[in-house]
Amino acid sequence: MTRIDKLLAAMTLEEKIGQLNMATVGHAVTGPVLASGVIEGIRAGRIGSLLNIWGAREVHAVQKIAVEKTRLGIPLLIGFDVLHGHKTIFPIPLAEAALFDPPFWERSAREAAIEAAADGITMTFAPMLDIARDPRWGRIVEGPGEDPWVGAEFAKAKVRGFQGTGLPEGLAGASAVAATAKHFCAYGAALAGRDYASVDVSERLLHEVYLPPFAAAVAAGCAAIMPAFNDVAGIPMTAHVALLRDWLRRDTGFDGVIVSDYNAIAELLHHGVAGDLAEAAAAALLAGVDIDMMSNAYSQGLPEAIAGGLVSTDLVDSAVRRVLKLKEHLGLFDDPCRRGSAETLATAPAAAKARIELARELARRAIVVLANDHVLPLSPSLRHIALIGPLADARAEMLGPWAAAGSATGPVTIREGFAAALPDAEIAFEAGVAITGTDMSGIAAAREICKGAEIVLLCLGEAANMSGEAASRANPGLPGVQGALAAAIFDLGKPVVALIFSGRPLMIAAIVEKARAVVATWFLGVEAGNAIADVLTGKFNPTGRLPVTWPRDVGQVPIFFAARPSGRPANPDDHYTSKYLDMPVGPLFYFGHGLSYCRFILTNLRTSNAEFRLGGELTIEVDALNEGPAAGEATVFLFARDVVASVARPSLELKGVGKIALGTGEGGTVCFRLAAEALSFPGRDLKPVLEPGEFLLLAGQSADPRQMLSIKVRALPG
Ligand code: BGC
Repeated sequence: MTRIDKLLAAMTLEEKIGQLNMATVGHAVTGPVLASGVIEGIRAGRIGSLLNIWGAREVHAVQKIAVEKTRLGIPLLIGFDVLHGHKTIFPIPLAEAALFDPPFWERSAREAAIEAAADGITMTFAPMLDIARDPRWGRIVEGPGEDPWVGAEFAKAKVRGFQGTGLPEGLAGASAVAATAKHFCAYGAALAGRDYASVDVSERLLHEVYLPPFAAAVAAGCAAIMPAFNDVAGIPMTAHVALLRDWLRRDTGFDGVIVSDYNAIAELLHHGVAGDLAEAAAAALLAGVDIDMMSNAYSQGLPEAIAGGLVSTDLVDSAVRRVLKLKEHLGLFDDPCRRGSAETLATAPAAAKARIELARELARRAIVVLANDHVLPLSPSLRHIALIGPLADARAEMLGPWAAAGSATGPVTIREGFAAALPDAEIAFEAGVAITGTDMSGIAAAREICKGAEIVLLCLGEAANMSGEAASRANPGLPGVQGALAAAIFDLGKPVVALIFSGRPLMIAAIVEKARAVVATWFLGVEAGNAIADVLTGKFNPTGRLPVTWPRDVGQVPIFFAARPSGRPANPDDHYTSKYLDMPVGPLFYFGHGLSYCRFILTNLRTSNAEFRLGGELTIEVDALNEGPAAGEATVFLFARDVVASVARPSLELKGVGKIALGTGEGGTVCFRLAAEALSFPGRDLKPVLEPGEFLLLAGQSADPRQMLSIKVRALPG
C-alpha cells in the first residue's frame, strides 16, 4: 500500500472533504493574519490548503499545526498569486509578453518561484493564459496577449520556470512551486469586455484559440489548472464536464489538480445551474474540480450531495488522491517546511542583486517604442528636460495591479531613473493633474516649466488598479483630465515624448498624432524608472514588440491580426466592403510592432523544401540586415496562410518568432524549423488535419501585411 492509499483508507469523509477545502487568511497592513476559525479548521482536518499566507515563519507555524496537531498529519498546500515576481516585481505579464522570448519568460518565473518558495509558498495561481482580444477587459494585463501560439510558448516557459523543471529534485525542490494554469478557458472573451460576464464562442474558436495554451501547459507538466469564473455557452466552467473531464482530463491526459477560482463553486447558484450548495458541489465534483477555493460548497454541500446520491464517494476519493499526490510531489510529506528553511537563493545578497538586474533587463526589453520622429534616443547634449504627468513620480503604480508580496516602496520612479541617468541635465517636474479626477489647477504650473525645456517627457496613463480583475473599462482611454493636460502641453510647440503607462492598449490616437515619440511603458515593476531611462537615452536599443493589436478606437474592438478573410475585403473605394464609414479598419499599431533605433531590412525568404508531407519538417530562412546607426536586435515573425482549405483559415497565423542581434551594417540569417503538423488545423469535424495544397509563408517585423515577404510551399497528400 502506498502512503496515499493508507491515508485514504484511514480518512473519514469529513477529513477527505477537508483535503478539498482551501481557505484564506486575512490581510493586515503589516502582512497576513490568520482569520479566526482557520487554525481550528486545520486542527480538525477540515482545511487542506490555504491561500494568501506567506512568510516562512507564518507558513511553518501552520504547517506544524497540520502535521503535528491533526489526526493524520497531512501538510497543507499554500497557494498565492505570484504572477510577475513575488517580492522583486517584474513587468506585468502583458509587458513581459512583449519580449517574445521564452528563456526570459522562464527566468522570471524561476526567480519568482525562488522568492515565493522561500516564503513557504508551494503553489502559485499562475501562469494566466487567457488569450485576450478586447482591451476593455482589465485582465488582459495578466496574460500573454492575443495570440495562441505566443500563449502556448508562454505557458511552457512559465510552467518550467515555476516548477523548476530540470532541477535535480523537480517539483519537490526547495525552490519549486506548483504552477496553476488559469483561467480555463475563454475567460478573455467575456461579453462586451465585462469581467465575469458570459462567454459564447464557437467550438472552433475554443480549439483554435483558447485551448492551445492550456494544452501546452499540460504537456509541460503543469501541476494544476483553475477553471474560469465564466460560463461558455451556458455551462459555467466550474461545472463544465465536456471541457474539464472530457477535453482536459481525457483528451490531454491531465492528471493534476483542478482548483476552483475564488468562491466559484458557490457562484454556480448565481449562474442559475444549481439550486443549493449540495447541487453546486455535486456539479463541480462531477466536472472534475478537486479543490474548492473559498466557497465552502464542498464542506457544506458535499455530505448532503453524497447522501442524496448526487455524487459517489469514489469521486471524492479520486479528488483527494490527486490533492495528496500533489502534496507528495511537492515533497511536503517528507518535509513540510523545506521551503524557506535554510538560507536559500532568495536571500543570498548576490542572488538578490542579480534578480534586480534581471528586473531591469526584462523591463527595458518590455518597453515598446510605438512612434519616433527623430527625437529618440534623447540627445546627450540635452540640459533642460521637463518631466510632466501623474505617472512620472508614481512609485506604487509601477508595480501594476497584481504585485504579490512586492513592496510599494520598492520601485524606481521615472523621475529617479532620469535623475540617475542624466546627472548633468536639469529635470524639472510637475504632475500637472492626478491620474483621475477633474482638477486642472496644476496644468498652468506644468506648462510653465515646459517653457524653458528643450524636450518634454509626458508620463500619462492608467492607475495600476484600473486594469486587472474586475477592472473593465468601457472607454479605455486616458482617464481624468490627462487629455486636457496633454493638449495644453502640445500647445506649447515643444517636442514631446509621451510615455503611456497601462495594463492594456489605451485609446491614444490623439496623443500619437501630436507627440514626436510615443512609448508603451506598461507597468514595469521595481526597475521601471531605470529601464525607461535606459531606453530613452539609447543606453539600450529597444527590442519590445506589441503582443496585442493596438486599436485606434474602442469601436474597433475586438481587433486582432488572425481574423478570417471576408468575402468582401475592405476597400475604401468600394462601398459594399467590410469596413467602417467613420474610421479606417486597420489598427493604430499592428501586433508585433515596435521600433528600434536602427533599421532592419529583411530579404530573401526561402525554404529548402517547398513541398512537404505530414510528419515532415520545413526549414525556413530569411536574411536580416542592420542598416544602423546602432547595434540592435531584430525580431522576425513567421506567419502562415492556408490558401484554400475546407474551412476558411485566418489571413495570418503566427508560427514562429526569431531574434537576431546585429551590429551596425551587419547581416545575418534567421532560421525557423516548422513541423508540418504546425500547418494543420481543426478540420470540419474539429480533428486536426493537414490538407494538401498551397500555403503562403510570410515573414515580417510585425503583422502589418504591407511589409511582409512571402513564399509558397505545398503540402502533398499522405
Ligand atoms: C482570481 C484568480 C486568483 C484567485 C485567488 C480570483 O479572484 O480570479 O485569478 O488566482 O482570486 O487570489
